[in-house]
Amino acid sequence: MSQNLCIGLAGLGTVGSGLVEMLQKNHDEILRRTGREITIKTVAVHNIAKKRDLPAGVHLTDDAMSLADDPDIQVVVELMGGTTVARELILRAMRNGKSVVTANKALLAEYGREIFALAAEKNVALGYEASSAGAIPVIQTLRDSLAGNHITSVMGILNGTSNYILSEMNNNGFDFPTALKAAQDMGYAEADPSLDIDGQDAAHKLALLIRLAWGVHYDFSKLSIEGIRGLDPLDIQFAREFGYRIKLIGQARDENGKIEAGVFPALVHHSMLLARVNGAYNAVRIEGNAVGSLFLHGLGAGSRPTASAVLGDLLAIARRDEVNSAEANTGFIDALPDAEILPSDETISPWYTRATVRDTYGVLRDIATVFADEGISFAQLIQKAASQDDCVSLVLMTHDTTGTAIKKATRRLYEDGTLLVPATCFRILAASGNEAEGV
Ligand SMILES: NC(=O)c1ccc[n+]([C@@H]2O[C@H](COP(=O)([O-])OP(=O)(O)OC[C@H]3O[C@@H](n4cnc5c(N)ncnc54)[C@H](OP(=O)(O)O)[C@@H]3O)[C@@H](O)[C@H]2O)c1
Repeated sequence: MSQNLCIGLAGLGTVGSGLVEMLQKNHDEILRRTGREITIKTVAVHNIAKKRDLPAGVHLTDDAMSLADDPDIQVVVELMGGTTVARELILRAMRNGKSVVTANKALLAEYGREIFALAAEKNVALGYEASSAGAIPVIQTLRDSLAGNHITSVMGILNGTSNYILSEMNNNGFDFPTALKAAQDMGYAEADPSLDIDGQDAAHKLALLIRLAWGVHYDFSKLSIEGIRGLDPLDIQFAREFGYRIKLIGQARDENGKIEAGVFPALVHHSMLLARVNGAYNAVRIEGNAVGSLFLHGLGAGSRPTASAVLGDLLAIARRDEVNSAEANTGFIDALPDAEILPSDETISPWYTRATVRDTYGVLRDIATVFADEGISFAQLIQKAASQDDCVSLVLMTHDTTGTAIKKATRRLYEDGTLLVPATCFRILAASGNEAEGV
């Protein structure tokens, strides 16, 4: 094992500069843990003219591909983002026998099959702890610590920006645009927040967790994804009255060998730990047949927290050096088969529905008739006070049913004029086990 581990770093933005900082700050500690110096030879950036604060001797370039071709560089750390240059860089580095560390969830969710296959073929390490839930060590937990379990479910709050927005709406009574602006002012949301608020970012992370939990490849284009854009404060308020918080949930479950998965806003009962995850935090709840349920909570983004996960991967590579293999990356020996998919709308859970109707005689009877027709029964039904134009909100909490049934019933009622606007429908997250205990 050579004394130094020489790395090439592509990207010196939020995460890249955090990595450079923590490598210097924790230098002595890292040396004690690995017995090796981790040295950055070259950093690649987009804009080479911009002034950078780098340790002496580090070379700066705007040619990211040169990292993959440099024979001195043993590990390429990809922290650029995007799925074009980053993909080309990672594949090229691996073809040249280099290990790779990346935080790029979009790339691994969409091109993971190709990248993991090449890593296995070339016998190189692929570290990606930072790509799901930032600082939370969920990749290693699923791949290594829980490897002796049959995993039954993985669910979590996987996007800090959305969670911050929902927390502001819940705690401060903000409407959606005001809460989004607050997230942008805090630096949590990008100028274009679509990836966060439309659920794509959480879905990228969920796709990675499914791969680790069940050793299958879940075609990202088939993942059911709903975000929180334009969420009505009325629903936050009504959910609260019933004892729930609205959270953007990424969930995957094993249903008799089929994987049911999706990202969706859901009502989470206040007694569940997930309901208490506030601000820009992330959390992941894993259930396994040996471990029971496990809850991980921490910062899902940010310069130092994400660098912490990148460093964990780098130290693991520094320690094990040449002993790389497919199972060290995916957790499974063989190439991963396609997941058998159970459509998200076919799974059973209770549902919340808010309907806007005219405050006239017979409306409740009409709704009850259509719901009964679709096999849906109510657990609770509350009529809110009528507004000036004689419209009322009805909040319907159902017993177990499917998304298909709920959507069909509410569409029928809208088409026949009973509902004045399309209904708002959210799943109610079913808690299993005694999660609230022990806290
Ligand atoms: N930010 C987080 O908290 C966080 C958390 C978890 C995962 N991630 C993931 O980490 C990755 C990096 O995110 P970030 O927030 O650090 O991004 P960022 O702040 O936008 O930084 C991107 C860096 O990549 C450089 N770059 C872009 N295109 C390049 C190219 N073609 N050649 C060379 N350099 C190029 C940029 O150069 P310039 O400096 O010249 O612009 C910049 O230094 C992404 O995959 C992201 O999804 C981020």
